[in-house]
Amino acid sequence: MSLPPDNPLPPVPSGNDCDECPGDPCTIVIFGASGDLTKRKLLPALYNLRCYGLLPSDFAIVGVARRDLTDDAFRNQLGEDMQKFATQDLDPGIWADFARRTYYCAGEFDDPATYDKLKARLDEVAPRHNTRGNCLFYLATPPSFFGSIVERLGAAGLATQENGAWRRVIIEKPFGHDTESALELNRRVTGVLEESQIYRIDHYLGKETVQNLFVFRFANGVFEPVWNRRYIDHVQITVAENIGVEDRGPYFEEAGMLRDVMQNHMLMLLALIAAEPPASFEAESVRNEKVKVLQAVRPLLPEEVLQRTVRGQYGPGRSREEPVSGYRSESRVSPTSATETFAAIKLFVDNWRWAGVPFYLRAGKRLPTRKTEIMIQFRRAPLMLFNETPVQQLEPNRLIMHIQPTEGITMQIKAKTPGPVIKLQNVKLEFNYRDFGSSSTATGYERLLYDCMTGDTTLFHRADMVMASWKIATPILDVWKSLPPREFPNYPAGSWGPAAADQLLDKDGRKWWNG
Ligand code: BG6
Repeated sequence: MSLPPDNPLPPVPSGNDCDECPGDPCTIVIFGASGDLTKRKLLPALYNLRCYGLLPSDFAIVGVARRDLTDDAFRNQLGEDMQKFATQDLDPGIWADFARRTYYCAGEFDDPATYDKLKARLDEVAPRHNTRGNCLFYLATPPSFFGSIVERLGAAGLATQENGAWRRVIIEKPFGHDTESALELNRRVTGVLEESQIYRIDHYLGKETVQNLFVFRFANGVFEPVWNRRYIDHVQITVAENIGVEDRGPYFEEAGMLRDVMQNHMLMLLALIAAEPPASFEAESVRNEKVKVLQAVRPLLPEEVLQRTVRGQYGPGRSREEPVSGYRSESRVSPTSATETFAAIKLFVDNWRWAGVPFYLRAGKRLPTRKTEIMIQFRRAPLMLFNETPVQQLEPNRLIMHIQPTEGITMQIKAKTPGPVIKLQNVKLEFNYRDFGSSSTATGYERLLYDCMTGDTTLFHRADMVMASWKIATPILDVWKSLPPREFPNYPAGSWGPAAADQLLDKDGRKWWNG
């Protein structure tokens, strides 16, 4: 694709004409511009933001990566990637405008010369696109570069906010790999940046249904009175994926399921379900409540890790009717790997609202289906009046929050089967986002990129939240590391995980909710 001409574009809404106005003018610098995240999520999300009218009219993008490319070659590459990964049909006019504002800077992330080059590029690009000196740096690189990129940005003067221009840095997950390393990374990052400049991203928090959790709880007076240990029996959070590790073997070998999704995405879902109502929807109020919950989660003692956690690794099996290989045969994975591709844990939140209510979390690759769900199981009715059915046989009410792929909320209740005799059956009260005009084009990153451009940190992790979640995950990881698994692989691809995961709930007289 060659450099496109300027095109007249639909005007970006501004001033008071819109519910949400475009973000501030800025240059978006993406470190890791040739990586998977950039092509699969970031570019499609920025493009979508432009289509929603939420990207400023004055913006530019500078990609930084190792490969030697010209601006044109980079634009061509992005054009091809967008043909594959855009979540809506490309409008030639909008894409042409996009490409025209996109530039490339080649360099090693830990080489100071890269930052001199970047500075020169920004000096050239900013006036051309009138981005007023505002810069959003997105670190879409392997985590080992996070600390040094921030330090080099600082040393080159690129992180300095002056003359009313802002400098913000979005840092991808994982932020550290245990409590110690997260503290060390935080020390390096805060040595250069103010906390208000740091945006630790968790793309789960950009998902529509996740954003709806607080609205559901706090905009509907009917749920809050029953949202506690008196009425709730337990909570289950499931992140099931039917895919394997695909081409991310080396990353996953280091991470494992607990670090990959539990320590971040799932603990954040737990925080949203369990938090107290914030004093306001100001960023710090919301983040204060989330961190309080995470700090109230009781870290497991070593002997509890053995009783209250389960890890698994998939062996060969079937996925979507096709035979698939086991994790140890995936590309660039050790044939004797001890990395977990499945994890289940039982946690307690030690506060007055939740004392004694178990939160069961499970996540796995190569499970039978792709779904993320939160299931809240209420206590059974105290007395059964119908048909002399014992209360133990009465199914409890369940509230299921479907995060993906279908987005919505289901409440399971009992109703009388039509007919002359009283018979009960389960029925569903259902709300489906599809029927509500939900935007099917979103990648989940749009909201978060937009919030960063407008300086809203509500949906990003604060340092204390990251530390609190590592304090929950690290004791588990320590025990797992000291006791290598002997029975891996212990579940076939396409199943719901190891038998021990079912036993974790069986011994409490409960069952996983598989829908
Ligand atoms: C990422 C994990 O953070 O989340 C991946 O690194 C996982 O392993 C992904 O597949 C799941 O996100 P989503 O939005 O596809 O459910």
